Amino acid sequence: MNKQQKQLAEKILKLKNEKRALLLAHNYQRPEIQEIADYIADSIGLCRKAQQEKDAELLIFSAVNFMAESAVILNPDKKVVIPDKNAFCPMATMLPAEEVKLARKKHPNAIVVLYVNTRAETKAMCDVCCTSSNAVQVVNSLDEERVIFGPDSNLAWYVQQHTDKEIIPIPKNGFCYVHRLFSEGDILLAREQHPNAEVLVHPECVPEVQRIADFIGSTSQMYRYAIESPKKEFVIATETGLIDRMKREHPEKEYIPAYSEAVCSAMKLNTLEKIYLALKNEEPRVTLPKAIMKKARKAVERMTEITGR
Ligand code: 13P
Ligand code: SF4
Repeated sequence: MNKQQKQLAEKILKLKNEKRALLLAHNYQRPEIQEIADYIADSIGLCRKAQQEKDAELLIFSAVNFMAESAVILNPDKKVVIPDKNAFCPMATMLPAEEVKLARKKHPNAIVVLYVNTRAETKAMCDVCCTSSNAVQVVNSLDEERVIFGPDSNLAWYVQQHTDKEIIPIPKNGFCYVHRLFSEGDILLAREQHPNAEVLVHPECVPEVQRIADFIGSTSQMYRYAIESPKKEFVIATETGLIDRMKREHPEKEYIPAYSEAVCSAMKLNTLEKIYLALKNEEPRVTLPKAIMKKARKAVERMTEITGR
């Protein structure tokens, strides 16, 4: 952190204490935000933390919009504030609620499982949610043999490799533009240059990349894997914020980005300045219509019942 950032960080920590607010940050947040966050995690981790924190009435959610919406869905009585209200995940807008309705009509005996990377009104149309860390567990826990799954077609492919059920992806080609940047060639080259490294990739990467990985998991699963592995070098195929965290918290190991330009611009919209203002003004607040919240809550709660809290 530079001097200016340090001063701002001190102001944030003081105000956060006074207001008994909680700063929750996704693994992709800027390093200076990670340094002062109360908790850094993947999307399920942030969901859980928001639910467990009974005392904090104000949650500053340094992540993208759908993650903050999940916190609202699970904590209707808490004030959830996002530092930048334009922090939208583009993948989350790829599946309109109407498309879920049409898919249900087309496949009446299938159950609908949606990745949390969806807008609340779309979540409200599904039977159960999942995250990248629990998608296989959620799908395999269901009685139905056919599963409509969206919006990420790469995560859908990953789930299909780990289940006997039929996965029906909606939309046909939903994707994350950041994870689509990694190619098979990047991984093969990194393996050549770092023959002792293990390759860790996110399930939002394309199948060609997943096929040649040593480990596939959510951001926090990749983090844990690297810490617990006896290996010292890791090639990482996900957004660079996770690498910042790994380097800061476990500098004894080496982390090589599979592609160093893999940056999520929505995640990076959050800054220390915006966090300070969000904390001070308690806005922009994330709110949802009651009816949508009620339906979406059922789907998110069903996920947490399956995976345990
Ligand atoms: P995680 O749940 O793995 O943190 O993923 C969220 C996400 O947006 C990945 O791009
Ligand atoms: Fe969305 Fe991809 Fe950014 Fe994750 S990395 S928030 S899926 S655009």
